[in-house]
Amino acid sequence: MSREPLAINGGPRVREKPFPPWPVLGDEDVAAVADVLRSGRLTQLTGDAVARFEEAFAAYHGVKHCVATSSGTTAIHMALAALDIGTDDEVIVPAHTFIASATPVLHQGATPVFGDVDPHTFCIAPQSIEERITPRTKAVIAVHLNGHPAQMDAILAIARRHSIPVIEDAAQAHGALYNGRKVGTIGTVGCFSFWEDKIMTSGGEGGAVITDDAALAERMRRARHHGEGPGRGERRYYHLELGYNYRMTSMQAATGLVQLSKLDEYLAARRRNAAYLSERLGEITAVTPPYAAPYAVHSYYKYICRLDSGNLSTGIDEFVQAVAAEGVPISRRYPTPLPQQPVFRDRGLGDAPCSVAERLAGELFTLLVHPTVTTADLDDVVAAIAKVTEGLSR
Ligand SMILES: Cc1ncc(COP(=O)(O)O)c(C=O)c1O
Repeated sequence: MSREPLAINGGPRVREKPFPPWPVLGDEDVAAVADVLRSGRLTQLTGDAVARFEEAFAAYHGVKHCVATSSGTTAIHMALAALDIGTDDEVIVPAHTFIASATPVLHQGATPVFGDVDPHTFCIAPQSIEERITPRTKAVIAVHLNGHPAQMDAILAIARRHSIPVIEDAAQAHGALYNGRKVGTIGTVGCFSFWEDKIMTSGGEGGAVITDDAALAERMRRARHHGEGPGRGERRYYHLELGYNYRMTSMQAATGLVQLSKLDEYLAARRRNAAYLSERLGEITAVTPPYAAPYAVHSYYKYICRLDSGNLSTGIDEFVQAVAAEGVPISRRYPTPLPQQPVFRDRGLGDAPCSVAERLAGELFTLLVHPTVTTADLDDVVAAIAKVTEGLSR
């Protein structure tokens, strides 16, 4: 059987249509934002939308406190500030994640120490945490990467033994379950991002920290707003400690409230799409679909596959370019591990080897399963990958 010429070599594309967009906001979001704009109460300090969003997000998770922020990055930074992480402290973070899981550690003047990840879940490996603990370790950041929960029981057991808090970075994992519990509710605090393409957005940017710890929540509220002490009545402009302006706006909160009401629907669609794609991709031996541990209900923020290029004539870069040329969105997943990023490497950080993270950096690629994607779209994804793996096979 002759192979069909690949689009990258001038052959016909598998797909001409654009892929369905994400996010898709509608009349309800527009009306909610318009109401806020007309009210003239545009900020957390003057309106009530942020407080209503915080209440709803805490209720969704069954926790006592939610502190909304301007982004997921500032959520993590605020959590570290409230936990008094500073100079001379070390914080263990995974070597394979988005950079913002680790940069807030530097912003606090502390040292990120990179742990290796599990080869199946791509989340931090508990054993690696154990190996990196020193008397200076003051926290662990467990990232629920791509929507897959980290191994929280093992991580918490280590953290308890060393009396250190666990910050859950759930920026990519809204609604993911660890042994039936929502991520973000298991560690000391849980941090979320509502950036535009996340599982739910708050109008493009936004974040939140959730916790049951009232004192920590109070510290985070303070850090979010210039370290100002809580005032009743007239503001006293009295600042107890170094703080920031990390506040969410009323317009962000208004969109966040609408999107939160759709979160379970979004999650069901993502899981349906992922299950369909995994079943279909099972036919292609060079590709390993994402793993879900027995303890996990995955949220599939991104659908991450591993490429075994052993039987292909090219590596992952050429593979990804060839699939993209077929008209299907695809990209490499975190091709540079954090210890090799100049921001850390140039500070002399990241000497300890993270062999799994390094290997995965050359093997992983991202496909999309967001709620607007249909099974017909996924059929095109499978057709493009099948065509390219066939076309590139030795
Ligand atoms: C794992 C992880 N942590 C933190 C962040 C930071 O969130 P934000 O982009 O809202 O600042 C992101 C967002 O992209 C993320 O994916």
